[in-house]
Parts: sequence; C-alpha cells; structure tokens
Amino acid sequence: MRSEYQHLIDLSDYPVTWWKRIIELGEKIKNDPSEYAHVCDGKLMATLFYEPSTRTQMSFQTAMIRLGGKIIGFDNPANSSVSKGETLKDTTKIVSSYSDVLVIRHPIPGAAKAASLTAGCPVINAGDGGHLHPTQTLTDLLTLKIEKKTLSGLTVGMCGDLINGRTVHSLCKALCMFPDNKFIFISTPELRMPAYIKDIITAHGSTFEEIDSLEEAIGRLDVLYMTRIQQERFASREDYLAQKDTYVLDHQKMLLAKKDMIVMHPLPRVDEITVEVDDDSRAMYFTQARYGVFARMALIMTILGDKKTSETLIGKTYNSVKCDNPNCITNHEPYLPKSFRSSGDSTLLECEYCDERKLI
Ligand code: NCD
Repeated sequence: MRSEYQHLIDLSDYPVTWWKRIIELGEKIKNDPSEYAHVCDGKLMATLFYEPSTRTQMSFQTAMIRLGGKIIGFDNPANSSVSKGETLKDTTKIVSSYSDVLVIRHPIPGAAKAASLTAGCPVINAGDGGHLHPTQTLTDLLTLKIEKKTLSGLTVGMCGDLINGRTVHSLCKALCMFPDNKFIFISTPELRMPAYIKDIITAHGSTFEEIDSLEEAIGRLDVLYMTRIQQERFASREDYLAQKDTYVLDHQKMLLAKKDMIVMHPLPRVDEITVEVDDDSRAMYFTQARYGVFARMALIMTILGDKKTSETLIGKTYNSVKCDNPNCITNHEPYLPKSFRSSGDSTLLECEYCDERKLI
C-alpha cells in the first residue's frame, strides 16, 4: 500500500543516511537556530496526543513555532470527538486535511501506522504504546553525536523497564545499525528486552548481555540510559509495585562509573535517578531534552521539504487472521487491513503494526 506522503512511523523504514542527514541538520540548527526561523512560514502542524506528554508534545510545538510555522491539536482526547466514539481513521483524516504535518501519540501499538494509511499529510509517530518512539531516538542520536562525538564503538547500558519502554526499543534498533556498539541490558527477569529487539541486534552483528545488577555493569559503560518503570503499561498495581524502586542511580553508583560516561533518560524521571545526580557533569538528561527541539526542527524540515511518497504496508493482508497482541491497534479498530510480514522463520508471521509474532 502506497501513500502520497513521507511518514515517520519507524526509523527502520529509512536508510541510515536519512537519519544522519537529520542529525547533521539538527547540529547545524543547534549552532545557529535563527538561520531557520522562517523555513516553515505558512505551514501548520497538528499534534494529536491521546496519551500524556510534556517534552515530546512541547518540543514538537516549540520546534514548529521556532521554524515559523503554527500549531493546532489536542492533548486530552476527552475534549475532542474521540470521546463521542470517533474512530482513529476519521479523526486523522479530518485533522490531516487541515494541516501540513500530523504528530500523533497514542497508547496503542501500531496506532501511528494505522493513522498513516489514510492521512492526507505526513504522519509522525510520537510514541505508540510500549512499541516505538522514533523521534526520541533522533533526539538520543543527536545527543550522542554532540556529547560523545560518535555513534559507533559505544558500550550502552539500558536500565529499568526494557519490556515496556518504547524509547529503548527504538534506540536499540537504531544503534545496532552503527558498527561496534555493545548493549548491556540491566533489568529484572520480568522486564527484559523483547525477543524481537534482541533478534534484530543479533541479525545486525551487534552483541548484548542481560544482567540484573546496575553496580556490576556501570563501570563498563560509555552511556547509561535509565528508564522509568512504565506504570501505565502494567496489568495490575501489584505487578508495578513489585518492580518499582529496583534500580536507583545515585551518587554512590556514579562513583563506580567512568569519568566520561554520560547518563541519559528520556524523562519523566520518577525516582530512578536521585536529584543529587543532577549536579554531576555526566548527567545529560536535561540537555538531551533541549536537543529534542533541534532534532524535531530538523525532522519537520526534512519531512516537509522532501516531496516523497512512502510504502505504508509492505506485508500480505490476511483478513481472517488476527494479531495475537490483544493491545494491537488492529484489535481496536476493526476496519484496518490485517497485514503481516513474513519473518526469517517460515513458521512465523510478524504483525506490521505492532511487530507481534504469530505462529502459522
Ligand atoms: C518517554 C515516553 O513517553 O515514552 N518520554 C518521552 O517521550 N520523553 C518515556 C517515558 O514516558 O517514560
């Protein structure tokens, strides 16, 4: 299925050269933002946030305004026709007919992809459930490029809620495309990185380790990417409470880290990094959030500047086959074509919306 527009649903839909172009542009914008103050004059961006957000939403809005464009949108679907039962298809069809680019955050995996099938303008995925968060990854890559001066040869520790954290899923998929990066996944057994992400890492020749102890890993890391335990994605409060507070980065643990290790976090932080760490020069999370504006300015310029079409669904449609993930957008919006990619293994199909695997 082809769309007349260039969407950003998953960074893997683009070659690494495209990401590099955005990162290079983001760096230029950071060095001289005023140069770009009018490149989006007369353009309108819609932000549809079906899930809470501070940084992603406001950095997109700031980015568009700093490029000279204007913004519309909602951050509380209860105040829109969604509360009257409007489908995702209808909302995105209408709003995309008002705007030049549509940014969507949604609690359901695959929702941004679903929106791109019928939108009348480019769609940017600002987070779809626990699945992906490609614009956070552009922010993270820009931060690494500026602060570590490289995207290769890094030992990257990811700590916390690796099963539900969409930021770490997108970042792993991106970093394994650069040579010699190693991953150390630090989590409890319940919150380990999903198998499909680990398979992508291995397929690209990168290596990963899985361990329980932050103290054991921290001394080996160039980058420590901390994450919040994603309370809203747990089946019950008890399950969440059992995981909460397992990993807390504090001054004592920072003493074990390399002098040039940087600490990243997509934010919001709850209690996984103590406030004393904020004063450590290696704490990069507030700077990272500021770089998010430059990364998003570069992305908006690129998406609006390139008049390209894109493939939205490349797999095969099996209308009688259901995705096994009850939370997948195809199980919430029944009109969507059920599209699956064949995986390397001939007995497995992969849902094109949420990447859930299904035995056939
Ligand atoms: C993250 C998200 O929404 O996935 N935040 C963000 O976009 N900066 C991380 C989180 O909510 O824990």
